[in-house]
Amino acid sequence: MKKTAILVFVGMLVSFVAAYAQSNEPLTFKDFIEGKEAFEENCLECHSLEWPLKKIANREEWDLTLTKMANTGAVLSKKQRGQVLEYLVAKSAFQQKCSVCHELERPLEKNKEFQAWVETVRRMADKKPGHLTDEEKLSIPGFLTAKGEEKEIW
Ligand code: HEC
Ligand code: HEC
Repeated sequence: MKKTAILVFVGMLVSFVAAYAQSNEPLTFKDFIEGKEAFEENCLECHSLEWPLKKIANREEWDLTLTKMANTGAVLSKKQRGQVLEYLVAKSAFQQKCSVCHELERPLEKNKEFQAWVETVRRMADKKPGHLTDEEKLSIPGFLTAKGEEKEIW
């Protein structure tokens, strides 16, 4: 009995280390700020930003869109591509999840620092348990920090 428990524990440890080795650096709110910059600099060359800003999609769909844009001629470094992807995924989550109880204007008219946004979003999440994933509880504050003083998304 005891032996089995230890084996299970060792198994978990190995898979954790493997997953950690494969993953990139953990994201910080600076990635969302840089993602927004890269997005605004590189996605405006052929069309307005309104298309991507209005589009609400999940990670898989955004990944596909970025591949399509790269094939059309959009040039992003590997790091920038990752940051733009996270930025657009967080933007979509914000548009989808933060418009359920009030208009998006409510958060958009505020300008807070990252830590303050983390606390606000956690407070909102507690009003509707299960509504936000753990990832969204950090990526939405990242998106809102990158937004800064802007009061509109498009
Ligand atoms: C070299 C030109 C070019 C650049 C740069 C470019 N796009 Fe596009 N994009 C297009 C063209 C052409 C279309 C319309 C045809 C289509 O839908 O594939 C389009 C359409 C879109 C659409 C609407 C269609 C869809 O798939 O949802 C989105 C969203 C989009 N672009 C996002 C982006 C983003 C994000 C970037 C920056 C990484 C970007 N684009 C940069 C050429 C470009
Ligand atoms: C389950 C309903 C609900 C959801 C979902 C929700 N909110 Fe709220 N929100 C409220 C209510 C109710 C208030 C007003 C009372 C309060 O401030 O707690 C509010 C107020 C706010 C305020 C103004 C008060 C402050 O602390 O600055 C902001 C900003 C805000 N929400 C942001 C968000 C964001 C960002 C999201 C998405 C992560 C979100 N809300 C999702 C219910 C919700």
